[in-house]
Amino acid sequence: MFRPVLRVNRYFRAVIGICLILVTAIILDRALSAQSSETSSQASVGSGIFTTAHTSVYAAVREFFGIRSTPVQPIAYTHKVHLANGMQCTDCHVGVDQGPDARIPSVNFCMTCHQVIAKDKPEIKKLAAYRDRGEDIPWQRVYGFEPSAHVKFNHAPHIRAGVDCKVCHGDMTTQTVAERKVDHTMGFCINCHKQKAASIDCVTCHY
Ligand code: HEC
Ligand code: HEC
Ligand code: HEC
Ligand code: HEC
Ligand code: HEC
Repeated sequence: MFRPVLRVNRYFRAVIGICLILVTAIILDRALSAQSSETSSQASVGSGIFTTAHTSVYAAVREFFGIRSTPVQPIAYTHKVHLANGMQCTDCHVGVDQGPDARIPSVNFCMTCHQVIAKDKPEIKKLAAYRDRGEDIPWQRVYGFEPSAHVKFNHAPHIRAGVDCKVCHGDMTTQTVAERKVDHTMGFCINCHKQKAASIDCVTCHY
C-alpha cells in the first residue's frame, strides 16, 4: 500500500533536486557572465564556463528542453493580405528556387509599392522610417536550427522536386507574420526522404 507513495516521493525529490541544480547553475552563470562583462569588452562571448556551443548555461538549458521564444516582429507584416492581393511567394522570397536560402526582401523592395499604397497607415509609416534612416528591417527568424545540431538545408532541390512550401511552413494565406506551424524535427525530414527515395545519408543533412 505505501510503496507507490514512496516511489512518488522519491521521484518528486529527484525532480526538485534537478530543479535546484538548474537554478543554481543559471544564477551562477549569470553572476559569472556579469562579472566577465565588467572585465572584458566582449560580453557577447559569455562566461565561457560552459561549452563553446552556448553563450550561457541558461541558453543551453533552454535548448535542451526545446524552449523557443515566439519572435516579435518589428512591423506587423501580413502574409494573408499580400497573398490575397495575388502576390506569389517567389516575388518576395526570390532565392527559394535558386539556392539554400529563400531570403527576406529589403525595405526598398517593400517601398516600391508602399511609397503609394496604404502610405498613411501606421505600420507603413514605420516601414518608410526604416527606409529614410537607411536601415533594413530587423526581422526575427522564425524557422532555423540550433547551430549545435549542425544541420544544413537547401531550398532549391525541394522546389525543383515539387515539394510545396505548405508541407514545411503551413498555410501562409492564414498567417500574418510567419508562425512556426511545422516542427522541423529529424523524423519529419527523414520520413519524406524515405517516401521520395531522397538520400538519408547523415552527411546529406549534417556537416
Ligand atoms: C506589389 C506591391 C506590394 C509590395 C511589394 C509590398 N506590399 Fe505591403 N501591401 C500591398 C497591398 C496592396 C496591401 C493592402 C493595402 C490595403 O489593404 O489598403 C498591403 C498591405 C500591407 C500592410 C498592412 C497595412 C495596414 O495596416 O493595413 C503592411 C504592414 C505591409 N503591406 C507591409 C509590407 C512589407 C513589409 C513589404 C515588404 C516585405 C510589403 N508590404 C511589400 C502591396 C505590396
Ligand atoms: C522541405 C521543407 C521546406 C520547403 C518545401 C520549403 N521550406 Fe522554407 N525553410 C525550410 C527550413 C528547414 C528552413 C530553415 C533553414 C535554415 O535555417 O537553415 C526554411 C526557411 C525559410 C525562410 C527563412 C529565410 C531563408 O532565407 O531561408 C523562408 C523565407 C522560407 N523558408 C520560405 C519558403 C518558401 C517561400 C517556400 C516555397 C517556395 C519554402 N520555404 C519551402 C524548409 C522548407
Ligand atoms: C510581399 C512579400 C512576401 C510574400 C509575397 C511572401 N512573404 Fe514570406 N515573408 C515576408 C516577410 C517580410 C517576412 C518576415 C516577417 C515574418 O516572419 O513574417 C516573411 C517571412 C516568411 C517566413 C519565415 C521566415 C523565417 O524567419 O524563418 C516563411 C516560412 C515565409 N515567409 C514563407 C512564405 C511563403 C510560403 C509564401 C507564399 C505562400 C510567402 N512567404 C510570401 C514577405 C513575403
Ligand atoms: C516533403 C518531402 C521532404 C521533406 C519534408 C524534406 N525533404 Fe529534403 N528532399 C526531398 C526531396 C524529394 C529531395 C531530392 C531532390 C533531388 O533528388 O534533387 C530532397 C533533397 C534534400 C537535400 C539535397 C540533397 C542533395 O542531393 O543535394 C537536402 C540537404 C535536404 N533534402 C535536407 C532536408 C532537411 C534538413 C529536411 C528537414 C528540415 C528535409 N530535407 C525535408 C524531400 C523532402
Ligand atoms: C533528411 C535530413 C537528415 C538526415 C538524413 C539526418 N538528419 Fe540528423 N537531424 C536532422 C535535423 C533537421 C535535425 C535537427 C532536429 C531539431 O532541431 O529538432 C537533426 C538532428 C540530429 C541530432 C541531434 C543533434 C542536436 O544537437 O540536437 C543527431 C545526433 C543527428 N541528427 C544524427 C544523425 C545521424 C547519425 C544521421 C545519419 C544516420 C542523421 N542525423 C541523418 C536531419 C537529418
